[in-house]
Amino acid sequence: MKKNILITGGAGFIGSHVVRLFVNKYPESKIYNLDKLTYAGNLENLKDIEHRENYTFIKGDIVDGEFIGLLFDKYKFDGVIHLAAESHVDRSIANPMEFVMTNVIGTVNLLNAAKVHWKDDFRGKLFYHISTDEVYGSLGEEGLFSETTAYDPHSPYSAAKASSDHFVRAYHDTFGLPTVISNCSNNYGANQFPEKLIPLFINNIKNNKPLPVYGKGENVRDWLYVEDHANAIDVIFNKGKIGETYNIGGNNEWTNIDLIKVLCKVMDKKLGREEGTSEKLITFVKDRAGHDLRYAIDSSKLQKELGWKPSLQFEEGIEKTTDWYLNNQEWLDNVTSGEYKKYYEEMYEGR
Ligand code: NAD
Ligand code: DAU
Repeated sequence: MKKNILITGGAGFIGSHVVRLFVNKYPESKIYNLDKLTYAGNLENLKDIEHRENYTFIKGDIVDGEFIGLLFDKYKFDGVIHLAAESHVDRSIANPMEFVMTNVIGTVNLLNAAKVHWKDDFRGKLFYHISTDEVYGSLGEEGLFSETTAYDPHSPYSAAKASSDHFVRAYHDTFGLPTVISNCSNNYGANQFPEKLIPLFINNIKNNKPLPVYGKGENVRDWLYVEDHANAIDVIFNKGKIGETYNIGGNNEWTNIDLIKVLCKVMDKKLGREEGTSEKLITFVKDRAGHDLRYAIDSSKLQKELGWKPSLQFEEGIEKTTDWYLNNQEWLDNVTSGEYKKYYEEMYEGR
């Protein structure tokens, strides 16, 4: 196991689950969480492990290359798990440049620092880049994304992630940097910022607010419980083959409208409302520009070669997720105060 592991974006949704898993599972390793604490980063997500001896939080920006270099000098990282990113498609449509800076420049800064500080003696080192299935573009009604599917990103978010994946492969092919990449489907679970479909709709159902379904709600996503993604990241970090790519998915496709109806039903039950009450909040609104129709992942490589598989059924995952949001009102209140209101108005007013 690596001794000094840098996890970027560890205060965000997926990152916080990865940090917790690694801090608990690898007490002999030091886990460094580097995060800028943007609107999406929240140290509340890590309250339960923040005093652990093998955990250090570093506030900082991956876009600052000099600062990243100093960190590599100081902490002698031998492993990097890179999750820090701007992650919301709608925000990338409103402000693409932020996505170029963090997702592309930030990633290249980290690659450069690893290359320089590992000084071509790459033995025992690993740079693991966390990416998305959105780089593959959109599927029709049939087929699945595999690791060899050609890249075809459509949003500024997915274009920036695709670009960062290309840089990771270029550093492997050109400089021999030991890298691995995984591309995962849509995650859901505790601590996801309520701009994304599932937590946004849970919050709106609770507050009797309209549920803004883009277009006709026919788009399909392949949903994976976030702790299953964190487990896959652990498996790939420890057993993945250098230079390889692994797709991660839930084998769990839903049209948005079907998923939303399930969510409404579960929430009606939990809130003691009559069945059908929350469905009345469904409001069809203007579609997202460049909206990809369908994502679906073939994760057989990861399953066959490294032995990972998703552990949770969707029904159980949705139960756990709705319970978490209902039991963590303070977390929700904190992240939806201030800036969030402005974001919400700008994104949904007049849609
Ligand atoms: P998130 O938006 O919840 O968290 C991102 C984190 O990165 C935040 O803590 C934020 O403060 C930090 N960050 C942003 N810019 C930074 C910068 N310049 N310097 C340092 N830290 C910065 O994102 P998430 O949903 O947890 O996604 C994490 C990663 O997983 C991303 O790379 C994303 O592309 C990828 N991914 C996400 C999903 C998903 O469904 N959420 C699926 C597949 C892949
Ligand atoms: O596929 C992996 C990707 O999944 C990750 O790389 C991204 O970081 C993550 O944000 C997610 O992207 P999506 O665009 O698929 O997720 P989002 O939750 O924004 O939307 C899910 C679907 O729901 C999508 O088809 C758009 C739709 N939607 C979303 C919102 C926020 C709505 O209909 N209404 C909404 O208000």
